[in-house]
Amino acid sequence: MRSVRLSLGGVDILRGVDLDVAPTGCHVLIGPNGAGKTSLFNVASGQYKPTSGSVHFDGQDITRFAPHQRAQRRIARTFQVASLFRELSVEDNLRLAVQAPAPHLGKRTAAEVQDHMASLLETSGLQAKRHMTAGQLAYGEQRQLEIALGLANQPALLLMDEPMAGLTAQERQVLARRLDDLSQNIAVLMVEHHLEDALAIADQITVLYLGEAIFSGTADEVRAHPLVQKIYLG
Ligand SMILES: Nc1ncnc2c1ncn2[C@@H]1O[C@H](COP(=O)(O)OP(=O)(O)O)[C@@H](O)[C@H]1O
Ligand SMILES: [Mg+2]
Repeated sequence: MRSVRLSLGGVDILRGVDLDVAPTGCHVLIGPNGAGKTSLFNVASGQYKPTSGSVHFDGQDITRFAPHQRAQRRIARTFQVASLFRELSVEDNLRLAVQAPAPHLGKRTAAEVQDHMASLLETSGLQAKRHMTAGQLAYGEQRQLEIALGLANQPALLLMDEPMAGLTAQERQVLARRLDDLSQNIAVLMVEHHLEDALAIADQITVLYLGEAIFSGTADEVRAHPLVQKIYLG
């Protein structure tokens, strides 16, 4: 992102944000409530168009691309639990997502669809629960299913807004490992409100404050940064 500004209802919400996300690794947006994290996430996913500035992906200017056009460029986002079909089985939720038309993937055979589903079930740890309905899963497992749905179209960039929210400490650990694995091969850009969780999983952290990206660096660099300490630690 280059010089991204966003005004909503006359209020300046993002004030010229530059953000670089590497092709692999877990990049975490942190910052206090109201800093603009969700707004920036929405600019990345295409829900919001910036008032000025630009968004580029893989060498292409996608500033004006709608969310579905970004999906075809291999940008995916997860949705909160509400997006799951609670009455359908885990497997059927996945099947619907994997079979959805995806121009960038071309025509897939039934066997390819089945293989992809099997691998998503495996990596999300839901293999044994594939016949349960989504509504029967524990909250942390539902989060794993949302991520699996997000991966259905084989994105190169996965966007997540506070995926750790509402999870138990143990579920957060499981999710952190999953994100670590995932980000070996694709870029993960996520919002995380809690500093310690963010520091634990991030390869790269960007700190948002009052609509500005005030710092980007590794967890150690963020820990040592005086302004971050002031914002978070008082
Ligand atoms: N649609 C909107 N219209 C007006 N103001 C908004 C809108 N969405 C968010 N805001 C304001 O923008 C600021 C940043 O919000 P948000 O991006 O949700 O922050 P964060 O996710 O970091 O908590 C907040 O002050 C919020 O009240
Ligand atoms: Mg938010």
